[in-house]
Amino acid sequence: MQSSVNSTRRPSKKPPVSSESETTGTAASLIPAKPTLTSLRRAASHCKACDLWKRANQTVFGEGMPKATIMLVGEQPGDQEDRIGRPFVGPAGKLLDQALIEAGIDRADVYVTNVVKHFKWSRAERGKRRIHKKPRYSEIHACRPWLDSELDVVKPEVLVCLGASAAQALLGRGFRVTRQRGKPVESSFAPVVIATVHPSSILRAPDEKSRHSEMKAFVDDLKQVARLAKDRRQN
Ligand code: URA
Repeated sequence: MQSSVNSTRRPSKKPPVSSESETTGTAASLIPAKPTLTSLRRAASHCKACDLWKRANQTVFGEGMPKATIMLVGEQPGDQEDRIGRPFVGPAGKLLDQALIEAGIDRADVYVTNVVKHFKWSRAERGKRRIHKKPRYSEIHACRPWLDSELDVVKPEVLVCLGASAAQALLGRGFRVTRQRGKPVESSFAPVVIATVHPSSILRAPDEKSRHSEMKAFVDDLKQVARLAKDRRQN
């Protein structure tokens, strides 16, 4: 697996965040003429297309096989991803890894990314924890050129949206993961596009029994992804 920045940097002391926007240019203006994943990652590390860069440690770009058959898209990096600089390495990422193994998919063979490349958070009322905040439409929109470029370079056969934010960003705001999960949908992003739940929703399950059944349903969706990817490879 390609790994990007792998530091264990702690959140740095940054200047106070002003309420005024200090965005600089669009993400599209930073995209290199003949992009590769390496040049895109480097360019994205300077992105200030929305305000999220100010409170995040670093841009968390996608990583994985440059010509992966399967691309997984989540919402945005979490606390650990922001510290380490790699997508899906925190608790949700560990659950995703386990589900991929159970579905017979090797994470080293896939490309993993997010619709938003900076961690959006607020401080917990008590304690020091950084709490995930859902990105706004404008933030998803500002970040979109990076995901579009990743799709152009990787050209996955099967694109998997993990959770509502990714699914609605790519498939429209009316998309409902609860109703449409596990079923391929018509889309120009890849020959097969499919959505399932976000692994963090399984971590939030209220009890062990529902956690177990939600994990099983997630693994079943990923098994379907594995079958579809195999079909595409044989085509
Ligand atoms: N949740 C996401 O959507 N992406 C990550 O990289 C980590 C947690």
